Amino acid sequence: MAESNIKWFDTVDSTNSTIARDKENLADMSVYAAFNQSSGRGQRGNKWESKAGENLTFSILFKPRDLNLREQFCISQTVSMGVVDYLSGKGVTAKVKWPNDIYVSDRKICGILIENTAFRDKLSASIAGIGFNLNQMKFESDAPNPVSLSMITGKSYDIRLEMEVLLQHILSIYLSITEGDRAGYLRTSLDGRFLEAMYRRGEWHWFEEMPQCRRIQARILGTDDSARLVTEHRDGSIHSYAFKEIKYLL
Ligand code: BTN
Repeated sequence: MAESNIKWFDTVDSTNSTIARDKENLADMSVYAAFNQSSGRGQRGNKWESKAGENLTFSILFKPRDLNLREQFCISQTVSMGVVDYLSGKGVTAKVKWPNDIYVSDRKICGILIENTAFRDKLSASIAGIGFNLNQMKFESDAPNPVSLSMITGKSYDIRLEMEVLLQHILSIYLSITEGDRAGYLRTSLDGRFLEAMYRRGEWHWFEEMPQCRRIQARILGTDDSARLVTEHRDGSIHSYAFKEIKYLL
């Protein structure tokens, strides 16, 4: 079992911002968790909605010893697959909506905000902020299709306990891909698991190319070496998209 080092806060602005301010003095795999965030941040500059005391809102600081910048997507994959494994332990099948939203059927249960710092060609620190909907039963914001674990299973959960279990899933993958001689091989096998878990992979769906908002019908084939989304269009052409260049139509 990986040793975890969780610091709990009643309220912070954002666990990502708080751990970023302290990161120079913190060790690899330090975790800041909060019962409430006054300014929780989401992707694309959005706010993250989470009712105080009902969900998991936490950030993990990773300081991998020797991870090349071009491999940085493996941190995102690690966190995503840790969440998928945690949910599988609850009997719930989850998928990863590229790059790192966690979906159960067509509803979002968890959002991940990764903020990286580089030194030369290495990743020096990565902050992975995780917002996991645990007990919340009603969502006010216009976020598309939110769902919580309680809404799916009808049970209610102990926040500290579930936080430990989820964290262990994430850290066990992180240690396997960063420690030891087999790390490179294990990163490749993480790629394979990620591919298997990709939401809507292989199925024809409507998307929008951004910023033109041009509608296309495509199917997801996977990701390329730069972690871009690779799709096939109806005319057989293959296209790769960076984050923000493509939008799923749900
Ligand atoms: C998304 O938009 O899907 C990403 C949401 C990430 C939210 C989490 S909650 C804990 C951490 N602190 C933040 O301010 N954001 C992340």
